[in-house]
Amino acid sequence: MNKDLDYIFPDPPEGVDPRALDPERIPESVAIIMDGNGRWAKKRALNRLKGHKAGIEAVREAIRCASDLGVRYLTIYSFSTENWKRPEDEVVGLMDLFAKTMLAEVDGLHEEGVRVRTIGDLSALPAETREAFDEAWEKTRDNDGMTLVVAVNYGGRQEILRACRGCMREAVLLGEETGEVIEPTEEMFERGLYTFGMPDPDLVIRTSGEMRISNFLLWQIAYSEFVVTDVLWPDFNRYTFLECLLEYQGRNRRFGGVA
Ligand code: IPE
Ligand code: IPE
Ligand code: MG
Repeated sequence: MNKDLDYIFPDPPEGVDPRALDPERIPESVAIIMDGNGRWAKKRALNRLKGHKAGIEAVREAIRCASDLGVRYLTIYSFSTENWKRPEDEVVGLMDLFAKTMLAEVDGLHEEGVRVRTIGDLSALPAETREAFDEAWEKTRDNDGMTLVVAVNYGGRQEILRACRGCMREAVLLGEETGEVIEPTEEMFERGLYTFGMPDPDLVIRTSGEMRISNFLLWQIAYSEFVVTDVLWPDFNRYTFLECLLEYQGRNRRFGGVA
């Protein structure tokens, strides 16, 4: 842990005890499906984009809290390959929000030693959005603090197909070189994943109560613990995060073995 619990959780609500958290068992890798921005806005009779804007503060808080707790990888699902189906003004607004937020936050993240990278197909994004992510990576790539992984235009199935193609290419090339039939291995496959070299998520959190994966990290979540909270993403804060972590720490991970 990089800060102590009283510093990270100064004002816990009734019934939430930060001291119940075991600092020795903070997950190395956490992934979040940030859902419920639209419903948050609807409850307030606001435009959906207002919900996405309100969600930025929750992202800031989640990053700060995870980094202070010593989480090494935080992956945030920001835009799926299916989210292009949304109304054009929402898509355009989201792309603009990603670009502006990244530009505004990168210096602060850099100061905290956070490394910012992306997973997904960035080639389909508007130039300003792609450039903002690329610049954040260039600026922070040598940092040694938490890695913030932004999943943008990301789809688990598309990623698996991409890995298959890479793997087949490698097998064919190697086959031609050696004159043997090469059987693809798990390692060859993983080299083609966006997440190659990163640990699989220990914990996946989804907000807004929806019990589904929505094409997120399909390969990587084989043994992840899944925690769903009813809190809508813009209302997510360090104490919601704490509750998710406490639930995670109460789980018995067996990975197919015995307890
Ligand atoms: C999640 O909130 C944000 C993105 C998918 C970009 P939603 O926009 O999906 O919110 P709901 O699910 O409609 O409430
Ligand atoms: C998942 O949320 C995608 C992101 C959080 C970026 P969605 O709101 O798109 O998922 P569904 O449509 O409820 O499955
Ligand atoms: Mg949603």
